[in-house]
Amino acid sequence: MNIKNFIKKKYIRLQGSRNILKLNYFIEKYFRDKKLGNIGFDFSDKPNRQTVVQKIIETKKYNSYLEIGTFHDELFKNIKCDKKVGVDPVSGGTIRKTSDEFFKDNKEKFDCIFIDGLHYYSQVKRDIENSLKALNSNGIILLHDCLPNNYFEQAVPRCQITWNGDVWKAVVECRTKENIDTYTCYADFGIGVIFNRKNKSPLKLDSQNFSKIDFEDYFYKHKEFMNIIEYEDLIKII
Ligand SMILES: C[S@@+](CC[C@H](N)C(=O)[O-])C[C@H]1O[C@@H](n2cnc3c(N)ncnc32)[C@H](O)[C@@H]1O
Repeated sequence: MNIKNFIKKKYIRLQGSRNILKLNYFIEKYFRDKKLGNIGFDFSDKPNRQTVVQKIIETKKYNSYLEIGTFHDELFKNIKCDKKVGVDPVSGGTIRKTSDEFFKDNKEKFDCIFIDGLHYYSQVKRDIENSLKALNSNGIILLHDCLPNNYFEQAVPRCQITWNGDVWKAVVECRTKENIDTYTCYADFGIGVIFNRKNKSPLKLDSQNFSKIDFEDYFYKHKEFMNIIEYEDLIKII
């Protein structure tokens, strides 16, 4: 392993260390949190990501699956699909690279791409842009962890174990684009769904810098921002 990859791996692990999380939590709680509380999402009786991904693959008769960020293969090993590629710089999957490194050299196309790597807006935005280029014309992009319940679950840098990151900002940005059609399935901490087709209900938003959208806006307008859809309704429109 070269020195660059070694440092990258250490950095990814360090971000999850408990002392760093505690320090970040302290800063967020006392300096940034606006005490909005919980939105009240409850995923306990909703399908999990494996059910959602597998159902989409089977309904659309997809042959190829790419997962960005595989961790311990909890999802990757259980997905049934003819061709599976899993990308992670640290563990699991089939390719030991960051998503940027993978997409730089990738020439293959996929039917279903599940993005679940580094949960920072700027990285997710890049993963979506690269995935759109690597997507078959009838394909679907999915994104994990799109519906944080409160400020701390989405604060960047990470400040607690239960964490979605600010993936939601990348989904809001996608919602404003004319050439893609974006939803968020109410399942497993929010599963973003991007179709490569004309947007059926574009979000009108002035913001040009989506990294700066306020959590308070999401807190009050999450249904419209995220275009939230129940699993049963999603399956009807795929
Ligand atoms: C939330 S876990 C993935 C969980 C997995 N998809 C599942 O459903 O069980 C996030 C993973 O993303 C990986 N990761 C971090 N930065 C990444 C990057 N730049 N590109 C790809 N994967 C990355 C981490 O190593 C970690 O294993």
